[in-house]
Amino acid sequence: MTYAAITGWGKCLPPAVLSNRDLASILDTSDEWIVSRTGIHERRISHVGLEELGYVAAARALAAAGLTGSAVELIVFGTCSHDDQVPNMASGIQRRIGAQPAAAYDINTACTSFLYGLSTATALIRTGVVRNALVIGAELISPFMDWADRDVAVLFGDGAAAVVLEASERTEGVLAQKLGCYGDAREILRVQGMGGRYANRGVLYGVTRWQFEGQEIFRRAVQGMSSACDAALAQSNLKADAVDLVVPHQANLRIIEAVARRTHVPMEKVFLTIQRYGNMSSATVPVALCDALEEGRVHPGALLLMPSFGGGLSFCAHVVRWGSRTTALHTSAVELPPNDRPALEILRDCLARKTRPIATGAITPFGDA
Ligand code: ACO
Repeated sequence: MTYAAITGWGKCLPPAVLSNRDLASILDTSDEWIVSRTGIHERRISHVGLEELGYVAAARALAAAGLTGSAVELIVFGTCSHDDQVPNMASGIQRRIGAQPAAAYDINTACTSFLYGLSTATALIRTGVVRNALVIGAELISPFMDWADRDVAVLFGDGAAAVVLEASERTEGVLAQKLGCYGDAREILRVQGMGGRYANRGVLYGVTRWQFEGQEIFRRAVQGMSSACDAALAQSNLKADAVDLVVPHQANLRIIEAVARRTHVPMEKVFLTIQRYGNMSSATVPVALCDALEEGRVHPGALLLMPSFGGGLSFCAHVVRWGSRTTALHTSAVELPPNDRPALEILRDCLARKTRPIATGAITPFGDA
């Protein structure tokens, strides 16, 4: 039987750090509130576009796998913050890594996009359509953030990471998965102003208002992720105590703690990055995976559990068997262009471009006018 082993991994975090104290200088919030309610201490703000973040992560993942770009047969780019809708993000990566004529498509299920992409790429490898794949989770939330809204502005950050999958006869990679969606609750998380509903309606692109019911998202996230963990473990005939490390989506430390409790996995087996990056949507899980590898938390043959949730409200959990190698074969010389601007300055530039006032009623979607 063919499996899809993870043979390469790489992350790209923009260097500018936005601390809770920085946020408290532009919003009515405090470090104490943000840390106690979410677990977040700081997050990154990008000085470059999404493709650049995705490309650097992809180059590092390819080097780690010892694979050249020209050998890649499939590129899946998971994101909800595209540089362009057309052409898609994956084709830009294809061009940058020289993977012509590899298949290249984007997936948008918000924060779960990387894991949904991992599922589709794994399926295409296991059914023999392609022999390898590059799966990217990358997100540039900062230009789409409503920086006047303290309910959401404190939660998110920018980042990217990628993995390389290769066909293997060994029992590796995704062993089981549960994917799902609470479409009935899709209205509790909507970024107004981001999409075709708002085109030609007098809204400047990037001016957004976040429709965001934090407590209901919290409740659904815990329910969705823990039920998906149970289902994926049952599918693989494994119990929670077989899990070596949980690498979860990281939107709120309290959500992660609740999922770990319900899944009967102790917090010592849960890998946390939320304190340093916040929620990077689709980049969160692959960045956490890269950090876990760098910190020696993934040992050869480890069983990983990766639960996530996002807008839609999509949710999922993946059971992944790691292979024998936990170090990169090579490193890449590719780097982001240098940045010397503090995060607040990058944000101020971003805010200055949003000349239209952000106010209730400013955004009238097509069909709702
Ligand atoms: N600073 C200070 N006070 C704040 C802030 C802030 N940044 N944000 C909200 N508050 C206030 C509220 O106004 C409220 O004040 P009030 O009591 O006077 O009305 C108070 O703090 C408590 O607000 P709650 O909403 O009850 O706070 P809660 O403990 O539920 O935490 C949070 C809010 C952090 C948003 C939580 O509900 C959560 O994490 N929800 C899930 C969010 C999430 O995961 N989002 C990602 C979605 S995934 C995707 O795909 C985009």
